[in-house]
Amino acid sequence: MKVLATRRLPGPAWDELGDVETGPATPPREDVDVLVVTNEPVDVARFPALRLIANYGVGYDRIDLDACKAHGIAVTNTPGVLDAATADLTFALLLAARRGLVTGDRLVRSGAWGTHWASPKSLAREASGATLGIVGLGRIGSAVARRAQGFDMRVLHTRRSEGDLDELLRRSDIVSLHVPLTAETAGMITRERLALLQDGATLVNTARGAIVDEDALVDELVSGRITAGLDVFAHEPDVPAALYDLPNVVLTPHLASATVETRAAMTRIVVDNVLAFARGDTLPTQVA
Ligand code: 8YV
Repeated sequence: MKVLATRRLPGPAWDELGDVETGPATPPREDVDVLVVTNEPVDVARFPALRLIANYGVGYDRIDLDACKAHGIAVTNTPGVLDAATADLTFALLLAARRGLVTGDRLVRSGAWGTHWASPKSLAREASGATLGIVGLGRIGSAVARRAQGFDMRVLHTRRSEGDLDELLRRSDIVSLHVPLTAETAGMITRERLALLQDGATLVNTARGAIVDEDALVDELVSGRITAGLDVFAHEPDVPAALYDLPNVVLTPHLASATVETRAAMTRIVVDNVLAFARGDTLPTQVA
C-alpha cells in the first residue's frame, strides 16, 4: 500500500504507518493508494489508484466530496479531539480583543506605559457577564458555551436551522463562529449582517474565514466600530493588509488546534483510519 502525505504529522502515532512518502500531492500519480492531506485540494481524477484521503483536520471544505464519491475514494477527518484547544483559543482571542491584551503588550514594549494610564480612550470592554452569541452549537461551539459559564456569560446560539442568526447578531456583545464552511455557510455573515452588530461588539472567528464577507469585516474594523479576534482568513495565508496596524483586531495564524496534545491526537485519528483501511476494516471517522 502506497501512502503519500503532504507533510509528516506530529506525535508518536505517525511511526506506526511505517513507510510513508512525504511531499506535495502533485499528480499524476498512478501508484498512490492513500493520501494524507491537511485540507488541501486534490485532483482525484489524476490519482487513479487512490482509495482513501485521510484529512488532518475536522474541516474538509477544500476536498471535493462529490469527486471523491464518483471515483470511489473514502474521506476521513479528525473530529472531537480538537474541541478543547479550539474553544481555548476562542476564549484567548475573545479576552485579548475585549481587554486590549495585544495593544497593552505593545504599549509596555514600546516604553510608552505611563502616558496612557486610565485614559478613557484606552478603556476596554468587559468579557465577564457579556452576552455571547455562538453561531453553530456543535462540538466546538458547545465547548465554548461551557467555558462561557465560568465567565457568567449569557449564551445565545444558533444550530443548523435552529435559532435566529440576525437576532443573535443584534443582541450579542460577543459573537463567535463555529459552523463548518459549506455552500450554505459561505459568506453567511454578510455586510448587512455585520451591520447588525452593536457598537463595541466583538467578533471571534476560529472556524473559516470565508464564512464572513471579509471585505465588509475589514471595513467595520477600519471604522473602529467593532473589535475582533481572528484565527482564520478567506485567503490564507494572506491577511488583509488594512488589518495590520489596527488596535481593535487580534490576529493569529490559524492555530486553534496547534497544541502538542491536540495535534498528536489528530495524528492518532489519521493513523487509525489509514491502518483500518489497510486491514479492510470500517474507517473510524469516515465523512464520505
Ligand atoms: C487545522 C482546522 O489547523 O481541523 C480543522 O478544521 O482547521 C485545524 O485543525 C487544519 O485542518 C490543519 O492544517
